[in-house]
Amino acid sequence: MVLRVRISGQRAACCCLLGLLASVASVSSYFVSSPARLTRTTCRSVLSATPYSVREIDVPARANADKTVIVAGATGYIGRAVVEESVKRGYNTVALVRSKAKLETDDGIAAYRNAFAGAIVMECDVENPAALNTLMAHIDIPVDTVICCLASPTGTKKEAYAIDYQASLNCMDAGAAVNARHFVLLSAFCCRRPLLQLQQAKLKLEAKLQEQSQLTYSIIRPTAFFKSVSGQLEAIQGGAPYVLFGDGAVTRCNPIAECELAEFMLDSLTNPDKCNKILNVGGPDEPLTNKMLGQVSLLLQLQYRNGVSLLL
Ligand SMILES: NC(=O)c1ccc[n+]([C@@H]2O[C@H](COP(=O)([O-])OP(=O)(O)OC[C@H]3O[C@@H](n4cnc5c(N)ncnc54)[C@H](OP(=O)(O)O)[C@@H]3O)[C@@H](O)[C@H]2O)c1
Repeated sequence: MVLRVRISGQRAACCCLLGLLASVASVSSYFVSSPARLTRTTCRSVLSATPYSVREIDVPARANADKTVIVAGATGYIGRAVVEESVKRGYNTVALVRSKAKLETDDGIAAYRNAFAGAIVMECDVENPAALNTLMAHIDIPVDTVICCLASPTGTKKEAYAIDYQASLNCMDAGAAVNARHFVLLSAFCCRRPLLQLQQAKLKLEAKLQEQSQLTYSIIRPTAFFKSVSGQLEAIQGGAPYVLFGDGAVTRCNPIAECELAEFMLDSLTNPDKCNKILNVGGPDEPLTNKMLGQVSLLLQLQYRNGVSLLL
């Protein structure tokens, strides 16, 4: 059987990681349904891939300096990437964090390094609408967009409704109160088939956003993040069992890199095609089954053992 796939950047790393599990199926809850094929020619890119495939964007220095972008949940996995992308595009970027002191500890410095370079870091309790309103009212450069990357740590019903719904709604309302133009919500692909309280809370917020007319919006529903996929390997290394659905070809996974998701989210500020819509977004490549990942892994292992390039 001839297989073909275009694999790049983090996706390659991810592929190798999961490939080590040799043909077992993914437990990821984020799947897409179109088929993928793999070939020897394009598998070469697995070996030469760079860690990130970041698209160059041509932005004049300090374009957008007259617009403020507020990022709620700025310390999160996606929030950090969004802050970096917003700064890169020249927006006056305000990173909302729960605790500035946490950022200044050794762990905080190690975790966040330069993530907030060029941004204004502001502490705010997003569960407190009055605090949010006060903060936004004191920002000199008009607030153009609020990007909400908040997520409850556990996803329990109580937390999901407090953070994924209410605190995120507080951000939307505070943006509207200062006449912001646009609101970007980090939602999830799995909201298409809601089974969990977390998904219900997100859907409730999505509905609120769609009901209102003061702000334009983009509801972004990404597929799995790389951290979730590589997390499966870590769980197995820690002794947890691996769940296999069928023969490994039942489920497909198309993870997205945080930097590419951040680009997509920032694009929604200026692209009318991304306005007032729910946008599903996955990795740039074809979705892969675990069987395919296993096949790529076997090819790579063969090449490594034989010291020859089977992929030329
Ligand atoms: N994992 C996946 O594969 C996947 C795929 C698609 C969509 N999603 C969606 O993406 C979101 C997760 O994004 P992520 O991984 O970037 O999340 P994350 O790393 O857990 O970040 C969550 C952010 O929310 C903040 N936060 C949580 N509780 C808060 C509170 N009480 N007050 C203030 N801030 C609070 C956190 O602040 P602290 O740093 O102070 O805690 C952090 O900045 C979820 O909504 C999930 O459904 C996930």
